[in-house]
Amino acid sequence: YIYMYGYMQVVLRNTTKLCSTKPIVTVNGHFPGPTLYAREDDNVVVRVTNHVTYNLTIHCELLYRHGVRQVRTGWADGPAYVTQCPIQPGKNYVYNFTLTGQRGTLLWHAHISWLRATLHGAIVILPKKSFPYPFPKPHAEKIIILGEWWKADVENVVNEATQAGLPPNVSDAHTINGFPGPFPNCSSQGYTLHVESGKTYLLRIINAALNDELFFKIAGHKLTVVEADAVYTKPFETDTIFVSPGQTTNAILKADKPIGNYLIVISPFMDAPIGFDNSTSFSKLQYKLNNSSTTHPSSTPQIAPTLFLTNIPPHNATPITKKFIDSLKSLNSIQYPTKVPLTVDHSLLFTIGVGLNPCDTCASGSKLVGNINNVTFDMPSVALLEAHYHNIKGVFTDDFPAQPPVVFNYTGPSPANIQTMNGTRLYRLSYNSSVQIVLQGTGVIAPESHPTHLHGFNFYVIGSGLGNFDPVKDPKLFNLVDPVERNTIGVPTAGWTAIRFRADNPGIWFLHCHLEVHTTWGLKMAFIVDNGFGPNESLPPPPNDLPQC
Ligand code: C2O
Repeated sequence: YIYMYGYMQVVLRNTTKLCSTKPIVTVNGHFPGPTLYAREDDNVVVRVTNHVTYNLTIHCELLYRHGVRQVRTGWADGPAYVTQCPIQPGKNYVYNFTLTGQRGTLLWHAHISWLRATLHGAIVILPKKSFPYPFPKPHAEKIIILGEWWKADVENVVNEATQAGLPPNVSDAHTINGFPGPFPNCSSQGYTLHVESGKTYLLRIINAALNDELFFKIAGHKLTVVEADAVYTKPFETDTIFVSPGQTTNAILKADKPIGNYLIVISPFMDAPIGFDNSTSFSKLQYKLNNSSTTHPSSTPQIAPTLFLTNIPPHNATPITKKFIDSLKSLNSIQYPTKVPLTVDHSLLFTIGVGLNPCDTCASGSKLVGNINNVTFDMPSVALLEAHYHNIKGVFTDDFPAQPPVVFNYTGPSPANIQTMNGTRLYRLSYNSSVQIVLQGTGVIAPESHPTHLHGFNFYVIGSGLGNFDPVKDPKLFNLVDPVERNTIGVPTAGWTAIRFRADNPGIWFLHCHLEVHTTWGLKMAFIVDNGFGPNESLPPPPNDLPQC
């Protein structure tokens, strides 16, 4: 692991899984990569060196919580061609940032092409010294990183799919801490979570998968959720955790069941009718005897047989996802108050979905594209933040539509014209303005759930519902008291989610679907947050080692 200061050497490493070996891109030779530990308010300095022939940017999922001390470190955010150019082979870049107003679990990952498949790891932000957790201190903590494993080279998977204009292949297995399986005929044991009877564990669950939202369950055990996306929540008990790519959830596990082995299962949530990855992966929770424990009267305890799960959620279990999402509330305590903006300066309605564009290399003459308000985002060849900072003209425009250009029944049948417009269009926010976005899922071509992620901020999730957002009725039900605060939220299939945040972080901030296939297809846009006029309200100049395009 890395504590506050460290090096990330990006190197190829031959790795064998599912009976086949391939070179993968890793940080320091590990998959998943090293955990980055720090305390709230620490300054973190990580030097990333690219030793492979891929271009690379590491994006740390560090989203500054508003209302706390201002942090203006946009140059360390990481998405390629948004805040920086890629780190070229043989070059390095120092990511320097301060962790402010966040405590819990986040993740870091590469933010270019599909390199995130193997370049990712946990960020653990411990609370400041003498600030205990707002829940009973667990005996131990465990990091659980969920991912996907592809026998093919993921770069080929995405390139082929882009050329053909079709959905990409799905992964060969899901992984828990890098372990697929277990697959006995590939001599893979799978991951084992060891616990001692009578103890409690804080599970730091991270979904680093490219394209799958996941359910996480442990047979026979309930989990108490206490934090999401590095913000404490009101504790609630559940037997199923739902976690989307880019999201993190901390939950407490009590090892209070009879000594034995219990299956841990991760299974995908995909409500699209076709093309989903239905592989389910297992690992196990294994009790070992606590030597000092006298709670078990039997002097020769027997390990009980593995307890199988009988109720793996079906792949289209929207009600389970809805129940989980609706149970998340911010703590809203005196120490950790909720600061949702009560007035709105920018009120936006974004349709989130897929559409079609003409395509020369595609057999059908057209290809699937992602879009927001009918704009399919074109990546520039100069980083947007540099263009913004140095006032370089012609890289982007600031005319991103605040509303869909054509009003239609968003969740009904597809409208007659489903062609999208290409553009590198951004939306401009004045410093410290309050922003409300209603993210409206559409039924165009392939209705599905979109885990939408905003860089640079946490936002409050003030409402969600099925069908079309009703601008008269729905706002009356908004939760402005204890809405959960996060950085990634699902926009339900044929439904909507409303978020609010304060634009108190000057720079360029990306918003995109965290299903990598949809990002590739252009389901993304970016905000420009202008400088304020006060001290510490403007973006500082770029560091000298900022990679050049
Ligand atoms: Cu974790 Cu822009 O993504």
